[in-house]
Amino acid sequence: MKLLNKVAFVTGAAQGMGQAIVRGFVAEGAKVVAVDLNQAALAESLADLGEQVLALACNVADSASVADAMGQVEVHFGGLDIVVNNAGVGGLDSFLDTSDESWARVIGVNLGGTFLCSREGARLMIKGARKGAIINLSSTAALTGEGPAHYCASKAAVMGLTRSITRELAASGIRVNTLVPGPTNTPMMAGIPDDYMQALLKNVPLGRLCETDEIARVAVFLASDDASYMTGQNIAVNGGMAFI
Ligand SMILES: NC(=O)c1ccc[n+]([C@@H]2O[C@H](COP(=O)([O-])OP(=O)(O)OC[C@H]3O[C@@H](n4cnc5c(N)ncnc54)[C@H](O)[C@@H]3O)[C@@H](O)[C@H]2O)c1
Repeated sequence: MKLLNKVAFVTGAAQGMGQAIVRGFVAEGAKVVAVDLNQAALAESLADLGEQVLALACNVADSASVADAMGQVEVHFGGLDIVVNNAGVGGLDSFLDTSDESWARVIGVNLGGTFLCSREGARLMIKGARKGAIINLSSTAALTGEGPAHYCASKAAVMGLTRSITRELAASGIRVNTLVPGPTNTPMMAGIPDDYMQALLKNVPLGRLCETDEIARVAVFLASDDASYMTGQNIAVNGGMAFI
């Protein structure tokens, strides 16, 4: 039980990596506040986990929504140890066809949401004098440029955000790391055209998609004391697709 009695806040928890991370954390003894825009899917996908999980509707791109969810973390579980900024959105826009709205949405969720949940989460950790851990989800696309401009820009910015807040939060004993997945078998990938998928897999030396539990195991490691001297790092889980 690597996370016994720890309290975690996991965003984008209704499906994909977020759901797997919630399950991985619960299996290691954590209590989890699982948030997502899609409350119906969230409640259904995590119903079997019982009282270990509090499922909340939250828009990570909205400051008031995040503050409200963090308030509920305190009320229900009395404090916070771990934040996983997993909620993310992409799209298939070409750069030249990217609308102002699409740009603002992707940056607002992927970067803005990571900022808001990290800030509110860190405030709560510090309030309770807890030496916490924050895990931010980036993407191999931020390194290779193989993805839409708004997505790659937001995921590269998450790495910079991590490095800056690492320095400030270290004094409070809070570690911050960036988990950098390669192509992973989730609903986000379901919309990718087959020819694009085949081309993508040619660049993965292990020759397959990552499975969500392979991401969850690394998230457990980064959240746990096993990673007690790791902060500010990019941790790649990409089948050898890129080196960081
Ligand atoms: N799947 C991949 O191949 C891949 C690769 C690299 C990085 N990533 C990143 O990993 C993370 C998880 O990816 P996934 O494939 O599991 O995604 P997914 O699309 O399967 O799930 C994302 C979840 O986030 C939720 N969400 C979206 N906007 C939200 C908001 N504003 N507030 C709260 N919740 C919101 C969605 O409702 C959904 O449940 C994302 O940040 C993604 O960019 C994914």
